[in-house]
Amino acid sequence: MRIAVVLILMLILPPVGAYNVPERGVIYQIMVDRFYDGNESNNGPFYDPTHTNYRLYWGGDLEGIIEKLEYIESLGVSMIWLSPVNDNINRMASGSAPYHGYWPRDFKSIEEHFGTWETFRQLVEEAKKRGICIIVDYVPNHSNPATEGEFGSLYDNGTLITTYYYDAKNATVNPYTGSRELIYHHNGNIYDWFGFQLKYANLFGLADFNQLNPWVDSYLKEGAELFIKAGVCGFRIDAIRHMELGWLESFYLYLYGRAEEPLFIYGEYYLPNPEKTDDLYEFYRYSNVSSLLSIPIRNDIVRVFAYGGSLKNLAAELEEYYFRFVHPDKQVNFLNSHDMVRFLNESKNKERYHMALALIMTLPGIPVIYYGDESYLVSRDGKGDPYNRPMMVFDNTTEAARIIRTLAALRKINDALAFGDFRTLYADYNVWAFERTFGAHRILVVMNKGQEKNLTLTLDWEDGSYTDVLYGAVMEVKDGKAILTLPRNSFYVFHVEGEQKEPLIGSLTPYVAQPGQKVLIAGAGFGNDGHVYIGGKRAKVLSWSNDKILVEVPELETSETWVPVYVEANGKRSNTMKLRYYSGNDIPALLVVNGSNLTGFLWIKGNIPELAEPRPLIKSSTGYYFTVAPLPNGTIFSVQLYRGLPWDELEALNITLYGRAGSTVILSSEPPRDALTGGLNPFTYAGLAVVATALLLLLLRRGHS
Ligand code: NOJ
Ligand code: CA
Repeated sequence: MRIAVVLILMLILPPVGAYNVPERGVIYQIMVDRFYDGNESNNGPFYDPTHTNYRLYWGGDLEGIIEKLEYIESLGVSMIWLSPVNDNINRMASGSAPYHGYWPRDFKSIEEHFGTWETFRQLVEEAKKRGICIIVDYVPNHSNPATEGEFGSLYDNGTLITTYYYDAKNATVNPYTGSRELIYHHNGNIYDWFGFQLKYANLFGLADFNQLNPWVDSYLKEGAELFIKAGVCGFRIDAIRHMELGWLESFYLYLYGRAEEPLFIYGEYYLPNPEKTDDLYEFYRYSNVSSLLSIPIRNDIVRVFAYGGSLKNLAAELEEYYFRFVHPDKQVNFLNSHDMVRFLNESKNKERYHMALALIMTLPGIPVIYYGDESYLVSRDGKGDPYNRPMMVFDNTTEAARIIRTLAALRKINDALAFGDFRTLYADYNVWAFERTFGAHRILVVMNKGQEKNLTLTLDWEDGSYTDVLYGAVMEVKDGKAILTLPRNSFYVFHVEGEQKEPLIGSLTPYVAQPGQKVLIAGAGFGNDGHVYIGGKRAKVLSWSNDKILVEVPELETSETWVPVYVEANGKRSNTMKLRYYSGNDIPALLVVNGSNLTGFLWIKGNIPELAEPRPLIKSSTGYYFTVAPLPNGTIFSVQLYRGLPWDELEALNITLYGRAGSTVILSSEPPRDALTGGLNPFTYAGLAVVATALLLLLLRRGHS
């Protein structure tokens, strides 16, 4: 009987081990066209078999990636990030073919140079057999060049919907935002990289979507959903700096709500040197709704290792950077990318390159290996885009490949690498030692880019000798002191994997959720069963293992943005992690404030979870202030107005405004009438509308007779 129950349970409950915990893994980034040609019949047009014109197609495709999965697996990576694979334009623009995939025209079909939905699904399946999942790059900010090529042509699974010029004919000016728009925004190109233009104008001439148009909203969501149905485990979202955060939130919620497996989504906010004056600063300070590529720290890491600079300064900068995130371990670190000059083009010093690579793999966050990082791939003439996208050279026998493989293997078993905190123990110009701890798991990373040095560290580890995972260097620890000899250009990783007896949460995937959504809790010491509490309420447990729990988010009565999550197991309570909570039934809403008596940089903060963190308003050319937020449709809410620059303290203006969530909400100083009487639900409204219409018809009929 018991066995039968267990068997039935095994059938009903999903095997929790099947889910990926992003932090325990490594991402391998592929530019599809430049990886491997698995099918020569799809190479043309705009194909260059000589691989000399960097702006043409070179033959790489999805079948090629399938053929090379064994190679990718040999590096120990667990996720593959594909450059965009949606159908792109069939013409050249600015002297280039869209070999890179960032000029889409049909978000519901696959680019014919790369394959079909069938080959895409096959790739997902074949990768899965090797413990690897697929993350796809998705481009919801824009389609393709507006004034050349195919002029912003847009298709819905093969049916032409519009072009940029055709769309312009019927476009109108939104009275509140001042944006001229229909399917696209028609507000020129971005030249002022701040505020309105950043989100409502064309990025480098690319036809900019009006995501608030209900058709566009559904189209972009459905397009991404097709990838979920094909089995992806996540998305890299292109150009998030150029979309309203509130729309992105509703997009993320839609996708999280539709996925069988907890998705991992990270955004590209392209800003190599962040200024406090940019809205990125606000993104870090308050929003934290999505993982980001660690673009702001990348150049400094490369500079310090490729050219020179102080590790002490770098350590301080990195600590400050990660400190800004609610979930620093879910940020995405990289050394090279398709948008930057490769490290080995900046400096040929391989020892330093190995150090930088090992650092990327040991910092808080999830590391990305750009294709060819393992085989010392370089640009032909040392430049960035498009020369940082040469044809792949396959070589997994290098020292770089060994470092990647070794640290990828360690990430799987050492949770300090996945979820640990981040503390500098010692830093000077050439030497840096940092420790990361997660319960009984520890990591000590020590590096020296200068002359050989003897170092004594205060280290709270048990007495004994520890062996570095990369080179076998030995460290003796006695009475809380560690003694190390560090040769020039050395990089050591010492590690401890003790047994975790009490429940300890390392991460939530995703850390943004609405009621009914699944969240994967990863950590250690969970035992065989127990309870999970989210926002004080017991969550439904879908599956449970010692290091992973899958739960369903309950409906909460709260007006907070971040709600606490903890686990109770073996009679012990775990640490608390923060989950960003949304009420559910959220729609992207344009929130408008009449600005006639208002000046300065304004913010709103409100009494529902969606508005509980300050949101900055954009001032429109038509005299209003506005923003976009996901709001629970039909709900009545209030907000307070604040004034202040993103990097300053916000000053309360003591103005309360009210609204009822809908697609456009004009906030007013009077509460909606039924808010005073306790509020009516949408059904009551529908009922009242029916009665009113019936009465009207009756009166009209009477008038006729
Ligand atoms: C950022 C991508 O990484 C880049 O390669 C692309 O050209 C732009 N976004 C526009 O999509
Ligand atoms: Ca935009």
